[in-house]
Amino acid sequence: QTAGGAMSGYPKFFKEGHRGTRGLMPENTIPSMKKAIEIGANFIEVDVYLSKDGQVLIAHDPFANIAISTLPDGRSISKDSAKLYTWHQMNYADIRRIDVGSKGNPAYPQQQKLAAYMPLLGELIDSVEAFTAARKLKPTIYNIEIKSNPKMEGVYQPAPDVLVKAIMDVVSTKKIGNRFYLQSFDMRPLQSARRLYPEVIIGFLTGDAKHSVDENVKALGFRPDIYSPAYQLVNAATVEACKKHGMKLVPWTVNTAEEIDKLVKLGVNGIITDYPNLLSKY
Ligand code: G3P
Ligand code: CA
Repeated sequence: QTAGGAMSGYPKFFKEGHRGTRGLMPENTIPSMKKAIEIGANFIEVDVYLSKDGQVLIAHDPFANIAISTLPDGRSISKDSAKLYTWHQMNYADIRRIDVGSKGNPAYPQQQKLAAYMPLLGELIDSVEAFTAARKLKPTIYNIEIKSNPKMEGVYQPAPDVLVKAIMDVVSTKKIGNRFYLQSFDMRPLQSARRLYPEVIIGFLTGDAKHSVDENVKALGFRPDIYSPAYQLVNAATVEACKKHGMKLVPWTVNTAEEIDKLVKLGVNGIITDYPNLLSKY
């Protein structure tokens, strides 16, 4: 495998707004991205899917999340109707009509309620670029999470190569240089990305306590540039192993000042949080 992408120009400490700032704004929407940047995020994390008509859209779940979504006609979504259509079985024009902000999210009581839609990746990048330029803020780095699952191929998403190419087709039309990276829990799209676009920066996500850092790197088949475990899995040995491999260690999703402090003292290179305001002192 070829060497990893160059992180030149990347900040020393990665302050990553999870789904924008899920704690304060409807997740994975443009208002959430702008708010995250406004309160100090230098990276924004988004989750992506491919619609039936081949558009790269931003959403976390593969179909409507009954807790946060409202159908265009105002009906609320039942468990059954939510699973009837995945984004990959719908055209984007129909997906865009679903409101994912007005209901709020009961798990995040501080989250502002406002009508919001699931944007396209290209549109989101354009909005964020215009937002930071207008405010003379440092350009943002995009952490693009490829949501895929081998068992749901063709239902949740196309084959990894197709998915990665669609994302790269969008990103390459934007003038953002290396200000993005691709991450996934699924090794297959990361392997596709490294083979097809060796210069692209790769982040490996894991929530699995069963495998060590060394085992994960070996299974992936190359050294990812960024290693992102669930924060509960991080200890001094994780920090050492990431240093040894030359990977940035950026755990998720850390939502209290105490936990953030502990991880920073251990020596992580960044934090993914629903509340990027908690990172302002770093
Ligand atoms: O970036 C890390 C985090 O997004 C992984 O979990 O489920 O929130 O996408 P999830
Ligand atoms: Ca994510």
